[in-house]
Amino acid sequence: MQTMSRSVWRASATLLSVLFMLSSPTLAESITMTKRVAEPKALGEVLAGNEELSTYYTMIKKNPDILLQLPHSGGVTLIAPSNEAFNKSHPFDLEDSALVTALLQYHILPLSVNVSSLEPGPSYLFPTLLTSSNYTNVTKGQNILLSRQHDDTTVITSGLGTRSTLFEAPDQDIPFTGGFIQIVDTLLVPPSRLELTARDAYKDLTSFLGALYKSGLSPALSSQKDITILAPRNAAFQSVASALDPLSKEDLAAILKYHIIPDKVLSSADLASLDNSTGSSLATLLGGGGADGKLASRVTVSKAGNNIFFNSAQLLQSDVLLANGVIHIIDNVLNPDEFAEVPDPEAKSQTPAFQVSKGAETRTGTRVPAPFTTWLPCTTDCPEPTVEANTQRTATTTDRNGVNSQSSSGMGAQVTAAAAGILGAVGMGVIGMGVM
Ligand SMILES: *[C@@H]1O[C@H](CO)[C@@H](O)[C@H](O)[C@H]1NC(C)=O
Ligand SMILES: *[C@@H]1O[C@H](CO)[C@@H](O)[C@H](O)[C@H]1NC(C)=O
Ligand SMILES: *[C@@H]1O[C@H](CO)[C@@H](O)[C@H](O)[C@H]1NC(C)=O
Ligand SMILES: *[C@@H]1O[C@H](CO)[C@@H](O)[C@H](O)[C@H]1NC(C)=O
Ligand SMILES: *[C@@H]1O[C@H](CO)[C@@H](O)[C@H](O)[C@H]1NC(C)=O
Repeated sequence: MQTMSRSVWRASATLLSVLFMLSSPTLAESITMTKRVAEPKALGEVLAGNEELSTYYTMIKKNPDILLQLPHSGGVTLIAPSNEAFNKSHPFDLEDSALVTALLQYHILPLSVNVSSLEPGPSYLFPTLLTSSNYTNVTKGQNILLSRQHDDTTVITSGLGTRSTLFEAPDQDIPFTGGFIQIVDTLLVPPSRLELTARDAYKDLTSFLGALYKSGLSPALSSQKDITILAPRNAAFQSVASALDPLSKEDLAAILKYHIIPDKVLSSADLASLDNSTGSSLATLLGGGGADGKLASRVTVSKAGNNIFFNSAQLLQSDVLLANGVIHIIDNVLNPDEFAEVPDPEAKSQTPAFQVSKGAETRTGTRVPAPFTTWLPCTTDCPEPTVEANTQRTATTTDRNGVNSQSSSGMGAQVTAAAAGILGAVGMGVIGMGVM
């Protein structure tokens, strides 16, 4: 009992000193402060004084270590969920310190973001303090995507397409001595692994995911650190299905590797800033080329107006966050044999880089089965496994939790026992944050 209260006391003492440290002005500053009107207040004071943030303040007080990790220079941005944001999230154990720590870390940017000074329009990918490999394999800190819209609403997109809206002024850009506090109406969700992201939140990527399974690249790809994926949407696979279907596992793997940029998490802003004039290109996982040596291994990135192209494929949706990087969704399957294809920036849609299937127009859309989805492992309503059963289709249960409550049963997709080890519920599952 005594030990406990002593450690509680020690924790509070640490907290107090941290709150004070973050806030304590030097003597010189104190002197200037008396002369100015509105100097930023200490973090503890700001949090204690904001009734929207009492749950957040309680969490911070219980986890003072987070504050000890705060970068000292350059300031920080604390993304503070409102009480209502906590209320509407799945109930979770505030005493689970590993979970709460990870959650708080994902809500802290190691830089000072004054939203009202950001240009409306583009999206900004900002790193957070979340680096634990239990929750992310983005080694520089898992990202959030922030966009300030022209009507001045600001939205943060996090895992599984979760959108959190920032409170508007005067509850925006709340200064404290270490940076800014931004209040959000919904908890940010650390991005999930590729499987869950493509299956549940971005269902237009199920062919790509199925093809990764068929080629043997998944599920291992989801544990590779820091990757950028150029993922063709389902219609892209539908239109060239007859060219891809007959390919061997190895040939399919080579094509898919050509869609993966290793060791880099490139945001759309990074892509847009690549120098077009010199014909920028990115090395892919295909590395030294295909078995027959004629495959190129680099993808050319170009810009025309606001559009970005990879070889001749167009970027449709950028910055989908993953546990280990980012996905950019493109309109065509890339072909390493046709690496010299250039886009037609004037065209409404780009020509596929593979032979188009006969009658492809009638084979696209959500009413037609998407290619390769039969390779997706089983998640729901799985048949009882039998001795002969393909291990890939073996049943398992995974915790499907509420951030995106839509069921994926419509696509007959299901999760493997083999994958389950990796996909298995990670801590965040309890707050509706499947990281798997
Ligand atoms: C949170 O939920 C509790 C109990 O359901 C309710 O009393 C309280 O008003 C809610 N708070 C907010 C800020 O929505
Ligand atoms: C935040 O940015 C706005 C707009 O640029 C500026 O007016 C304001 O002074 C900035 N706030 C701080 C604390 O720097
Ligand atoms: C990951 O989780 C395990 C089990 O909860 C824990 O022992 C380990 O320290 C964690 N690793 C990291 C890097 O946080
Ligand atoms: C990160 O990668 C390691 C293997 O390098 C893996 O064990 C872990 O599950 C991955 N973490 C996530 C959140 O995917
Ligand atoms: C960028 O490169 C593409 C071809 O790769 C070209 O069509 C386009 O005009 C270039 N854009 C700019 C802004 O130079």
